[in-house]
Amino acid sequence: MDKYKGNSPVVLKPKSTDEVSKIIAYCYKKRIAVVPQGGNTGLVGGGVPVYDELVLNTEGMNQVRDFDDVSGILTTDAGCILEVLSNYLAPKGYMMPLDLGAKGSCHIGGNVSTNAGGLRLLRYGSLHGSVLGIEAVLPDEHGTVISVNMPGGGGAGPLRKDNTGYDLKQLFIGAEGTLGIVTGVSILTPRLPSAVNVAVLSVPDFNSVKTVFKETRAQLGEILSAFEFWDQEGLDLVLDHTGAKSPFETAPEGGRAFYVLIETSGSNKDHDDEKLGGLLEKLLEEGICADGTLAQDETQAANLWSLRESLPEAAGKLGKVYKFDVSVPLSEYYSLVEETRARFVENGMAEDGTIKTTVGYGHIGDSNLHINIVAKEYNERTESAIEPWIYEAVAKRNGSISAEHGLGVMKPNHVHYSKTEPAIALMQQLRRVFDPRGILNPGKYLPPSEHLPEEG
Ligand code: FAD
Ligand code: MLT
Ligand code: ZN
Repeated sequence: MDKYKGNSPVVLKPKSTDEVSKIIAYCYKKRIAVVPQGGNTGLVGGGVPVYDELVLNTEGMNQVRDFDDVSGILTTDAGCILEVLSNYLAPKGYMMPLDLGAKGSCHIGGNVSTNAGGLRLLRYGSLHGSVLGIEAVLPDEHGTVISVNMPGGGGAGPLRKDNTGYDLKQLFIGAEGTLGIVTGVSILTPRLPSAVNVAVLSVPDFNSVKTVFKETRAQLGEILSAFEFWDQEGLDLVLDHTGAKSPFETAPEGGRAFYVLIETSGSNKDHDDEKLGGLLEKLLEEGICADGTLAQDETQAANLWSLRESLPEAAGKLGKVYKFDVSVPLSEYYSLVEETRARFVENGMAEDGTIKTTVGYGHIGDSNLHINIVAKEYNERTESAIEPWIYEAVAKRNGSISAEHGLGVMKPNHVHYSKTEPAIALMQQLRRVFDPRGILNPGKYLPPSEHLPEEG
């Protein structure tokens, strides 16, 4: 993104939990600030040493520890790359319960620490449901290793049901490296589907996107695995950037349309083909959908997915991207993009070229909208035209200012748009309990306060 600059004199790449423990105990003693880092694909600067912190990168911890092919429970080191884990599981008939565009670089420890959502959360749920166990190193004088529901870690192992006390592992999911270093993860993996179908549809307006979503859930409920969305600006950007051809035979009426990608995953190809085919026929016949294309093989399916997955990179190639990742009710979803564009027209920033384009896309199935504002450059004038206005617009809709990318360096001072003061104070107190000297990711995640560690 070229937005957050790192400045660290040292990067350590431990190979074991024991090494992490020794490093953290030393840093505690010497009061050295540490940035935990996985694949460094995060979009809010959480893994970047913005001061002069030591970077503790997990790429040296990349072993699968255990896989049980009856329960589907996978236990791995935190530094395993998501795609490597998917490739490890595929021949065994299993898959990872999450998938994202950064799969080739992000680590499972980073995924857990950001509570990454991604493209199939709609089907497989959030990591709060699929992570069954966590091993982490705490920022205390011993670098204490805490195992919660990990195999061989003492106490109960990775279980779907365990109601003995506070569910501590949940705290590490989405903590963005502020409570401890995640060193191991046990995760429940689903069966790899034997039949996958992908279709992309074009519809005339955003209301039709909602109608298609409702119909799709009604008719494909048990086999639906993704329902993604992007707008005309998004399609134009991707076609320009990749040189790909539009998947549609005709141009949309009035030059504008909205696009959805529907994926089904099941175990009976004929059954799934019939169901998806039936749905597409109905949508076309009733005029809800203007055009559609159904992938005939894996290559075509990958090409359709690439129209959606290339969006972040295409935006980055056009200019400097102010990225917003919000949750808003579907009734308010696209009006936020329209209001954002209208603001740039009103203040002349669209006309004078400050803003090159504003793109809306996201995980409709999860009410998660990504607004990418592509500007000529990052500067204070542009930023102050966007923030905090956009956070206020999200709060007015009772939405969340971060659906999945997290808080990092970007949003600690904006958390109050989505959480109450008492809730933020409790989070700060909790952070202090885990990290009394404030050595983990200081200055990130939460706003400054007397509740935070003094030395932070
Ligand atoms: P990093 O970027 O290295 O770190 C992220 C945060 O976690 C930092 O705060 C860091 O300090 C902390 N951290 C990392 N490892 C550990 C650890 N072992 N212990 C404690 N703390 C740790 N995100 C989504 O949610 N959904 C998407 O669909 C999605 N798509 C993306 C597509 C692209 C092209 C890109 C570039 C990013 C995308 N992301 C997405 C964002 C990013 O990939 C995820 O947040 C990912 O989970 C980060 O993993 P990482 O290993 O790169 O973590
Ligand atoms: C996505 O859905 O493509 C990711 O969250 C990444 C992004 O928004 O840039
Ligand atoms: Zn996303």
